[in-house]
Amino acid sequence: MERLPGFRDFYPEPLPSADAWSCDARQYIFDKWRTIAKRYAFREYDGPPLEPLELYTLKSGEEIVGQLYNFADKGERQVAMRPEMTPTLARMVSATERQYKKPIKWFAVPQLFRYERQQKGRLREHFQFNCDIFGEADVSADAELIALLIDSLRAFGLTENDFVIRLSSRNAWQDFYKQRITGEQPDAAQREYQFFQIIDKLEREKPEESEKKLAALGFSLKEVNDFIQSGAPTTELDSILKNLAARGLTEFVKIDYQVIRGLAYYTGVVFEAFDKKGDFRAIAGGGRYNNLVKLISGGKADLPALGFGMGDVVLLELLKARGLLPKFDAQIDFFCMIEDETLRAETLRLIQELRVQGNIVEYSLTPAKSDKQFKRAMELNAIHTMKLERGPTGALVGRLKNLKTREEKTIQSPEGLSGLN
Ligand code: HAM
Repeated sequence: MERLPGFRDFYPEPLPSADAWSCDARQYIFDKWRTIAKRYAFREYDGPPLEPLELYTLKSGEEIVGQLYNFADKGERQVAMRPEMTPTLARMVSATERQYKKPIKWFAVPQLFRYERQQKGRLREHFQFNCDIFGEADVSADAELIALLIDSLRAFGLTENDFVIRLSSRNAWQDFYKQRITGEQPDAAQREYQFFQIIDKLEREKPEESEKKLAALGFSLKEVNDFIQSGAPTTELDSILKNLAARGLTEFVKIDYQVIRGLAYYTGVVFEAFDKKGDFRAIAGGGRYNNLVKLISGGKADLPALGFGMGDVVLLELLKARGLLPKFDAQIDFFCMIEDETLRAETLRLIQELRVQGNIVEYSLTPAKSDKQFKRAMELNAIHTMKLERGPTGALVGRLKNLKTREEKTIQSPEGLSGLN
């Protein structure tokens, strides 16, 4: 039976094939994400992987809705696997924000599902590090979040030579748009959203195609490109740059109006992290979404918000390509050899003791020849082998061997055996 396309099996190392996904590497990434989020005083939350369909149909934008895994459940509810975490988070925060001091700074590592065309860096399931701040409208929060994004990439050994945060602003694009559109339009909001979608796809689409689509809205590709080229920071972007400069992070950011973000709910500053060589798709993306809490709560709550999501797929590809993944050698503390089957019960007691002390311990579940057990100990990269023997008086003796230093020790007393470390 094959697994579904776009889904992954994660194996423990050593991997069965070069293209298999490593559970060790995944854990390594999750650990770093969590460590850095905690350094910035973010707290972890989680939500359900299945949500009511309408959480997404109203708020996320066409692209993501087109990629939903949705169905009617047995209670005939229209549901969807979560394609992103932000609507869930906005729902959770809207319902409980009064109980929390502001700003609320939360992170999560959810698995997300998008039924999209499989391509490099894009699967139908991925894990995404999400960090979001609620209840702070000042740009110092945007800078804090971007600093966190930079540090979470640096934690993997990536430097300013490897990645850059492309910083932009929907406000800047909105001003650009509004200055050129005069008079009332019946479907103004829809047209503006279409305009943002065209900008979002500029880099991926043929220029003729973008030109045609822009012309339908009354714009030329040239004026759009000229605006991007100008790259003059708005007041808010300027203060974010200054804030990041104070932290010594200038080298990691640049203004780039090409970035506008595809999702519908962004309202202000937006950004994306890219590898500098341009070999991969975006590593991470995020920005301000000041209206989403109000929208999702039906006006009951209203909080400014901002956040980013970083996927594990592109990040892992990038770390592999730059040789930044550590070797994941599993190691065990003790392999307990049972050469005399009459001592199996005593050995099990010893194994239990060693494990209670916190050691990683392995042994042969069924009788096996001594050399076979030893071979297994070597394969498992054991630090010690341990075996019990009966001494001439009938007392139990432990024989401990350090496989790294070849040092051997005999442990006579029961206390010595239980005190092993
Ligand atoms: P997004 O740009 O859709 O944003 O996704 C963020 C990152 O998740 C992408 O840059 C990419 O690395 C990864 N990603 C997205 N889709 C896939 C996929 N199909 N396969 C592999 N990786 C993928 C969001 O999802 C926003 N909700 C982020 C956010 C949080 N904004 C505010 N708070």
